[in-house]
Amino acid sequence: MTAEAMPTIEDVRAKLIAELEQVDAPDQILKHPQLRQLYGQISSLPAEQRAEYGQAVNKLKSELEQLVAKRQADEKTASKPVIDVTAPMDVNAEQSLPSPSSQGSLHPVTTELRKVTDIFLRMGFDVVDSRLLDDDYHVFASLNFPDDHPARDDYDTFMTTDGLIAPPHTSTMQNRVLKQYKSRLDDGEPISVVVPGRVFRNEDLDARHEHTFTQVEGVYVGRSVTVGNLIATLTTLLEEYYGQQLQTRITPFYFPFTEPSFEFSLSCPFCDGGCSVCSHEGWIELLGCGMIHPNVLREAGIDSNEFTGFAWGFGVERLVMMKHNIEDIRHFHSGKLNFLEQFS
Ligand code: DAH
Repeated sequence: MTAEAMPTIEDVRAKLIAELEQVDAPDQILKHPQLRQLYGQISSLPAEQRAEYGQAVNKLKSELEQLVAKRQADEKTASKPVIDVTAPMDVNAEQSLPSPSSQGSLHPVTTELRKVTDIFLRMGFDVVDSRLLDDDYHVFASLNFPDDHPARDDYDTFMTTDGLIAPPHTSTMQNRVLKQYKSRLDDGEPISVVVPGRVFRNEDLDARHEHTFTQVEGVYVGRSVTVGNLIATLTTLLEEYYGQQLQTRITPFYFPFTEPSFEFSLSCPFCDGGCSVCSHEGWIELLGCGMIHPNVLREAGIDSNEFTGFAWGFGVERLVMMKHNIEDIRHFHSGKLNFLEQFS
């Protein structure tokens, strides 16, 4: 082999650096035959050139080692998505993570509650939110529950050590709503408000009972308001919500805050006379309601000789269960994706 035919260190350097960009396994460059060839040439050189030449080949090798190490480090970083939570959002950047809006959906109770409140808004009702913590006065006393009355025990309340109560019903808002809106009566307008909210009861759980559920309270007060208005309002709501004509029925019941009090039932929307949803009765008891007790009106500063009103409270989950034929109320809070995905 003549000296001219040997590849120079410079030639090999340029070739290997170019190849390093292309190969999948960068460390293979360090075993490249041309690099080995450079080492092999040392012994064929005149003795006085060998040291200088050997040092130049070693220098090339360590340069290549550094380049290989850098490329390996770059690849490691690129394969992991780096999320800087403090960085300002770049709306034009390509997303490396799926956006939550393309993955999730509203909870079915939220979707259905919006449908219910929309119907009430169209009927002219205002919507006021309930609350998550309340006191004995609003949960019981202002609603005509005498102290130590056994009806208090029906509500299985959760209480804090300070005596605050996680509301067991949205009726806890009645006194506030009546006070807040009573100036309407002086203007010749009725009070018409619905109050959606979460309620909590410490009771035994089964397919029809949950510790946490959603209610919608309704309050309507004006002049010459009758039970007929109550029935018409609730029938309108249910026919709109279920999208079909329904028969409704009221039967006597007891609540301390209404007189008379009723249980409101509707003809089963699933059958014509009897099925498993209505326990072969043809009727489904849906909610409690009645004419607001004069003591409740008086407690809010409303003259019960001049004004009358009705109120109701129903569970949203119950309404949705009937609409979608859901057999167990506990599915709603189960977090089970295969249940929730049916509504997305
Ligand atoms: N608060 C009652 C409950 O949760 C439901 C209810 C009944 C609300 C009659 C009312 C009403 O406003 O008038 O059991």
